[in-house]
Amino acid sequence: MKLYDVYPLFDINIVKGKGCHVWDDKGQEYLDLYGGHAVISIGHAHPHYVEMISNQVAQLGFYSNSVINKLQQELADRLGELSGYDDYQFFLINSGAEANENALKLASFYNGRTRVLVQEKAFHGRTSLAVEATHNPKIIAPINANGHVTYLPMNDLPAWEAELAKGDVCAVMIECIQGVGGIRLVTPEFMQGLRALCDRYNTVLICDEIQCGYGRSGKFFAHQYTGIRPDIITVAKGIGNGFPMGGVIISPKFTPVYSQLGTTFGGNHLACAAAIAVLDVMKQENLVDNAAKVGAYLMEELKKFPQIKEVRGQGLMIGMEFEEPIKDIRRRLLFEQKVFTGVSGTNVIRLLPPLCLSMQQADEFLKRFKQALEA
Ligand SMILES: Cc1ncc(COP(=O)(O)O)c(C=O)c1O
Repeated sequence: MKLYDVYPLFDINIVKGKGCHVWDDKGQEYLDLYGGHAVISIGHAHPHYVEMISNQVAQLGFYSNSVINKLQQELADRLGELSGYDDYQFFLINSGAEANENALKLASFYNGRTRVLVQEKAFHGRTSLAVEATHNPKIIAPINANGHVTYLPMNDLPAWEAELAKGDVCAVMIECIQGVGGIRLVTPEFMQGLRALCDRYNTVLICDEIQCGYGRSGKFFAHQYTGIRPDIITVAKGIGNGFPMGGVIISPKFTPVYSQLGTTFGGNHLACAAAIAVLDVMKQENLVDNAAKVGAYLMEELKKFPQIKEVRGQGLMIGMEFEEPIKDIRRRLLFEQKVFTGVSGTNVIRLLPPLCLSMQQADEFLKRFKQALEA
């Protein structure tokens, strides 16, 4: 059977990872400034993570959500404490798109409405309503184009107010740092205005922290730079450091109803062991502070390169915008300098390294980046 060919692939077979490095099948080492698309949070093959998962799978990998799973509560307690949301509730699923689907479903159960507002260039996933909330007509199939979603310019509060004042908006879904959209940041004024408007019009405010959250921005959540608390926060990617997981963090104003939400695999024992290991390491190694420190240093140094038009970001979520397409620079970085990076559109290189990136590794990246630009 052939694989369904939807991914344009680099001709590289990665077989091993450790910390911020990966190796291909020929033994070539690469510096990982991409984290497998912002997924690797605590670093590849962290010994504590390997041990926790290995022990758990040897004990019990899975049992269904029809019985008590104490690991789910332990994870929720740890996450509540580290993120500052211990008064919220937690629902576990398996991916980012699923987290957003469930968040939107909850919002609609809550106020009975069906309209959603998102930012222009938003990316919220590839399924059902999540893909309709993604501002890219090429990936919205006719079956998903159901007219629920309005796309609005980022940080333009009057434009959002005009829609919210109609009184029929179910939810506003925001990426505080847009990932796929090119590392663009919301302003605190915009988010504070939006918070007040959502309260006034009984609209649910959802922050999609799937890429920008879980420590990547240098605070636990990117919206914590803006002084607001959303009604719902969605997480995925870094939560399991590669183990497929998603989560919905839900304000106490929502009352759970049996069977309204549910999943077979979500929150299984093995996934919870992975996610608890991630939080252990984030806490022990101060990875949120590390992301803030190393990210600030990287941004400051990158701003010195005259070839870059603009450097944007927060923590270890950094975008470098060039005047011209970055395809060649990125290829030189990968094939000559042996550095993995990401992209946004044609002109932005995205850096999404593991949160354990050290100052020395940042310097090593800067050295290789300079060589790639000068080649
Ligand atoms: C902001 C954001 N939301 C949602 C998603 C979808 O997550 P997943 O691919 O796990 O479904 C992504 C994935 O890149 C994302 O960056």
